[in-house]
Amino acid sequence: MKLSDSIDKDKLNALIEINTLINSNYSDISALLAHILESAMRLVSGNASSLLLVDTKNQTLRFEIALGPKGLEAKEFVVKIDEGIAGWVVKNNRSLIVNDVANDSRFSPAVQQSTGYKTQNMLAVPMRIKDECIGVIEILNKESISGFTNQDLEVLEIMATQAAIAYQNALYLQKSRDKIVVLQDQIITDRGYHTMIAKSPVILEKLDIINRVAKSDSSVLILGESGVGKELFAEQLHLKSDRSGGPFIRVNCAALPEGLLESELFGHVKGAFTDAITNRKGRFEMADQGTIFLDEIGDIPLSLQSKLLRVIQSRSFEKVGSSETITVNVRIVAATNRDIEKLVEQKKFRSDLYYRLNVLPLYIPPLRQRMEDIPELASFFLKKISHETKKDFIGFSEAALSAILAYSWPGNIRELENSVERGCVIGTPPYIREDDLLLNIKTMPDNNICTDKSLKAVLNLFKKHYLQKVLVENGWNQTNAAQVLDIQRTYLSRLIKELEIKEK
Ligand SMILES: Nc1ncnc2c1ncn2[C@@H]1O[C@H](COP(=O)(O)OP(=O)(O)OP(=O)(O)O)[C@@H](O)[C@H]1O
Ligand SMILES: [Mg+2]
Repeated sequence: MKLSDSIDKDKLNALIEINTLINSNYSDISALLAHILESAMRLVSGNASSLLLVDTKNQTLRFEIALGPKGLEAKEFVVKIDEGIAGWVVKNNRSLIVNDVANDSRFSPAVQQSTGYKTQNMLAVPMRIKDECIGVIEILNKESISGFTNQDLEVLEIMATQAAIAYQNALYLQKSRDKIVVLQDQIITDRGYHTMIAKSPVILEKLDIINRVAKSDSSVLILGESGVGKELFAEQLHLKSDRSGGPFIRVNCAALPEGLLESELFGHVKGAFTDAITNRKGRFEMADQGTIFLDEIGDIPLSLQSKLLRVIQSRSFEKVGSSETITVNVRIVAATNRDIEKLVEQKKFRSDLYYRLNVLPLYIPPLRQRMEDIPELASFFLKKISHETKKDFIGFSEAALSAILAYSWPGNIRELENSVERGCVIGTPPYIREDDLLLNIKTMPDNNICTDKSLKAVLNLFKKHYLQKVLVENGWNQTNAAQVLDIQRTYLSRLIKELEIKEK
């Protein structure tokens, strides 16, 4: 029997259309699977549906996508590989119509009990790649009393095969892209630098400033809380400058006692002090033709500050124990997480040095004020650490992602990275779950706790934070904030009311 004999023309056209659609965009696997399921439901007029993927390693079937009235409740449900009707389909690698679910012994009521969505009839077909069943599409409750027909089964089988191929291609694409990210990161790390992830407008703006000032030789002072990435911005200043072929030398000014720091920065000659058994080059000399990064500059002792001031002014200094003046060509970038203006007030930091360093100040905002970066960073760390720990994670569960977005990240990106690393160590692929992250919930502000795990709730939480931020930036002037957000002022006031945003 030819296809055209058994399938009516409309269905055939729909199949062709769906096939084109699902093969036209592989960039987002979740979106692709949702697309597949929506099309499947429409094709056979079902009221709800699920797409389950086989996890051979764990011998389970996982609800990857679920649509319909109780879709969100069913999502992420995991059952045994031979459980229920989907399990039967996997085991026999065959499709199945059950038009009286309640009286079928193969039916497992676990999901129904959990979601509260009652199933009357069901059509379940395997998603096959070269005869191997990689998943199951289930369509529930046909919108006609007679239930699902053999023709429904036949069209859905054809579609499921196409869907399986599309899914596999999308998976290959994602894996290849992830691999490229990891390899690129390895190249950057091998050169002694870090990969910089940037998505939020505020950070992109900072990078734009860096691009513009990189070519100059003026000193830059980078400020911001601990863990915000100050060192990465210093690296970018160097890499974007004409000095990028030269050295990038880091000095942690807080790590060494005064005497050692002086010799570390400027070098010493043999015999300058008891342990000076040979001549030694200082970091300033090593940084010649490149950039020196003075980290934790707020901790530099007063006695060294005058010497540093001279280097900034004239690029010249003497090694410890020597009277010979050395001149170097270096760009100075400094950073601190301390309140340096307060240190100046307290006379712990020379004001003339501060003004010299502060020619181009660069403030890096904390992570909680640039939430758009959070998912990007989390996914980058996940790729990197999955590779290192040889675990095949492909993402975060919805609950984990909502917890990540709701958390305030007092330790900023460093804390996020540690948390994802913990998740990779504790968790089991393919998804990092909320509990694996071991977030310090105690530090979550009350209004940040997201008990509702639905996508809508998470998005609302995000919206709330973002609107709050823009409103603060605009002194709670709604007209200005609405302009920045590119929305109507009336819409903004409605959102403020709906999301219960209060002026603090
Ligand atoms: N934009 C970013 N993209 C990727 N990784 C980042 C980014 N920003 C920071 N990190 C990572 O976060 C960690 C902390 O960054 P960094 O050391 O630059 O912070 P810091 O601001 O210098 O903090 P501290 O004041 O404590 O020294 C590092 O492991 C760094 O690789
Ligand atoms: Mg640092």
